[in-house]
Amino acid sequence: MKIPQKGMSKEEILKTLKNYKGHDLDWKSGRVFGYIYDPGEKVHDVINDAYTLYLAENGLDPLSFPSLLRLENEVVSMTANLLDCDHEVVGNFSSGGTESLILAVKTSRDYARATRPQIKEPEMVLPITAHASLFKAAHYLGLKPVVTPVHDNTFLADVAAMRDAITDNTILLVCSAPGYAHGVVDPITEIAALAKENGLLCHVDACVGGIHLTYMRRLGYDVPDFNLNVPGVTSLSVDLHKYGYAAKGASIVLYKNKELRKFQIWACSRWTGYTVINPAVTSSKSGGPMAAAWAVLKYIGDDGYMKIVADVMQATQNLIEGIAHIDGLKVLGQPSMCMFALASTNEKINVYRLADKMKVKGWYLQPQFARENSPSNLHVSMNRSTAPRAKSFLKAFEETVAEMKREEVDQETRDLQAELKKLALNFDEETFFKLAEMAGVTGVEPPENMEKINMLLEALPYDVSEFMLTEYLNNMMLLGQGAEQ
Ligand SMILES: Cc1ncc(COP(=O)(O)O)c(C=O)c1O
Repeated sequence: MKIPQKGMSKEEILKTLKNYKGHDLDWKSGRVFGYIYDPGEKVHDVINDAYTLYLAENGLDPLSFPSLLRLENEVVSMTANLLDCDHEVVGNFSSGGTESLILAVKTSRDYARATRPQIKEPEMVLPITAHASLFKAAHYLGLKPVVTPVHDNTFLADVAAMRDAITDNTILLVCSAPGYAHGVVDPITEIAALAKENGLLCHVDACVGGIHLTYMRRLGYDVPDFNLNVPGVTSLSVDLHKYGYAAKGASIVLYKNKELRKFQIWACSRWTGYTVINPAVTSSKSGGPMAAAWAVLKYIGDDGYMKIVADVMQATQNLIEGIAHIDGLKVLGQPSMCMFALASTNEKINVYRLADKMKVKGWYLQPQFARENSPSNLHVSMNRSTAPRAKSFLKAFEETVAEMKREEVDQETRDLQAELKKLALNFDEETFFKLAEMAGVTGVEPPENMEKINMLLEALPYDVSEFMLTEYLNNMMLLGQGAEQ
């Protein structure tokens, strides 16, 4: 595609963009259990206005746009107060959970460089349930991720295994509140104590849970301690664009004190251009996400969040109870908040096929692969907009499971995984294409039916599936790709 010779009209542009959206997930239906945290039309309007008011302002330089500095300080302060932080706690706004985690890992790396310069190959210890973006942070920043198991059935981090994983090179322990996959809060008090005992930093990834869990606690739910008041916790990330219902591009990373946060900041005056001083990864950035996050906290307010969380939790409990009565499905572990994973207890129920069938009926669930002691499962994240659909969602589940039980087991698909595993043993380029074809991937368009692809990716060794995913994306994003207008 080329830039049009003559500019298009606004009407034409917006019409085209709306058409582009045609195949996207229909999140406004309240049937999408991941990706979207929809605060509803009224809040959305406020977000929209605040965002566009600050669309062009540049967060690059707080001296030129002091209102952005003020907004950042106020958003951090509102978040830190919500999380009951003491006055020494400091923090910054970032573009999302991934950026907050990269910042926390960078801070710990640079803190270790300053305080333990003998460490040449720093390591971070993290349970297998820690979010993928922590592996990404380790990869970007040159840390070795040392992965520890979680307990059978509860999916709680195994603290003894974390203890055993600590070496002279360890600089950071990580835990989640909760981990995304199963929605279970790790034993943070114990992990933080372990960090303290060993003179290590401890990051709590509360990206998805920080806000929701805090309101649950206020509502009287039994929520394990997870915030910066837990002795030994040194940093914490909390996303506003998840259960804060802010527009995408909004997260906060908090530190115990400013002596530690210092290692997050990047300054550069050694080049020929303007002075750079960045608290976060990005440099130039729209003020939109920050203004919108500020606006959403102010607009929904404490009472509003309490009501949302109360409703979402009620719906989640009903849903979990309902699923317990469906023969063939089970919820994994004991979810701490409004997100959970469900697995099959019946050989006729392949969860990936279940997800495909539910998608045809308009319900979107995220497949999660079997890893270590966690079986193949589907992820459900409830939020304000899906909560009112819990009953019809449950009904769709019941019907689909009953339908699957009536169907013959597809032997070919059943055997596929074993065959894939065998093929993957001698992996080369030829095998790559063969595997992709077996899974139904012929071009770059994913097939409607994802069951076989999910089985393929699940069956392959991590390095092979990661290679395949990289190849796939690399091919999907080619010059000239996309419909010619
Ligand atoms: C626990 C946890 N940490 C980090 C992230 C990454 O956040 P983001 O997608 O905003 O980068 C997520 C995303 O779901 C998450 O659940």
